[in-house]
Amino acid sequence: MSKTFYIPTLVIAIFICLITSSYKPKDTVSTLTKEHLGEKLFFDKILSSDYSISCASCHKPEFAFADTMAFSKGVNGKFTARNTPSVMNMAMRDEFFWDGRAKSLEAQVVGPVENPNEMNLPFKEAVKRIQSNQEYYLLFKQLYQKAPDSASIVDCIAAFERSLETDQTPNDRWLNDLPNGLTTQQMRGRELFTSNRTRCFDCHFTPDFTSDEYRNIGLFDGKVFNDSGRYHVTKNLLDIGKFKIPGLRNVAITAPYMHNGIFKTLREVIDYYDEPNKFMKQTLYRDTILPLHIGLTEQEKQDLESYLHALTDDRFTKTSSKK
Ligand code: HEC
Ligand code: HEC
Repeated sequence: MSKTFYIPTLVIAIFICLITSSYKPKDTVSTLTKEHLGEKLFFDKILSSDYSISCASCHKPEFAFADTMAFSKGVNGKFTARNTPSVMNMAMRDEFFWDGRAKSLEAQVVGPVENPNEMNLPFKEAVKRIQSNQEYYLLFKQLYQKAPDSASIVDCIAAFERSLETDQTPNDRWLNDLPNGLTTQQMRGRELFTSNRTRCFDCHFTPDFTSDEYRNIGLFDGKVFNDSGRYHVTKNLLDIGKFKIPGLRNVAITAPYMHNGIFKTLREVIDYYDEPNKFMKQTLYRDTILPLHIGLTEQEKQDLESYLHALTDDRFTKTSSKK
């Protein structure tokens, strides 16, 4: 082999070595993260008393981690007391549940595991199960350098939930002057949504379409509608019937709506806001900023609904997309 051939070959060989060494196969143990481990637990029925229910039984990935029922089924066929919310776009929230009774995502985890209508398992028991599961034991050892305990279990589930942010939507593209933003109809809907006529934007504002407050939109009458919401937590009479303002990202795929799943479609929600008294004959302590009669036309109702669809992430509208 001549010298002129030998040197370039050596250079190329070194180059190929450098490139291939920077590739690491995915999903090997060396790429384990808190999010992965949290995801595994989120989908694992080990967290329910009879091994029949996982977090994902109610928070289904295909429905933006909500489900399609007014009330969801937990262990022993029991139903939840409230509608299951999406657990996407939680990273910026500072209180959780419809009444805000959990102060962090970490603190929240214990709730569903112990709730008799959901997973019905004392958290201590859940920790024991995970400790005596060889696979989990090794994974926690690797990630946290110790056996699984309650702190590391809630830590990784919360980390997984914080990874579920969605911002690939027509509305986000429109805001950033990118192509494939809002259609003309959605633009009209946006005008309405942000107007003083509807006041939607007063409570549901960007980036996640919630002001993170508790408000009473009129779905409390002390009789049939008797969930007093935020009052459960504060015992302040002014909080009766108030609920956490839900973020509206992906709202088009999280029906039914409200803390009690009372509305089956977005159209029903819009009809309600348009004329709340038509639906609720009597109501107590409704927020005074809510109009009693917006007077939306048929076209305007459709425009508003079409705007709400522009808050859906691409992963739910494109069939080829991944989770
Ligand atoms: C049986 C159905 C069910 C199961 C199982 C379940 N959840 Fe939920 N989840 C709900 C319901 C219903 C609510 C609302 C309860 C309330 O506000 O009082 C909720 C609320 C939440 C919230 C608060 C969302 C917000 O907007 O504040 C988070 C986060 C959450 N669940 C995570 C989990 C995790 C993690 C697990 C598994 C350890 C789990 N859930 C298991 C039904 C369920
Ligand atoms: C005074 C604050 C306020 C205003 C104004 C307001 N909302 Fe809401 N919105 C809330 C609260 C609070 C809830 C949850 C109420 C409940 O469950 O009882 C809610 C729930 C919703 C839901 C259901 C979300 C879900 O996941 O269940 C949609 C959709 C919605 N609002 C859209 C709108 C639209 C459209 C407008 C304007 C026409 C509007 N909101 C005006 C506070 C407000």
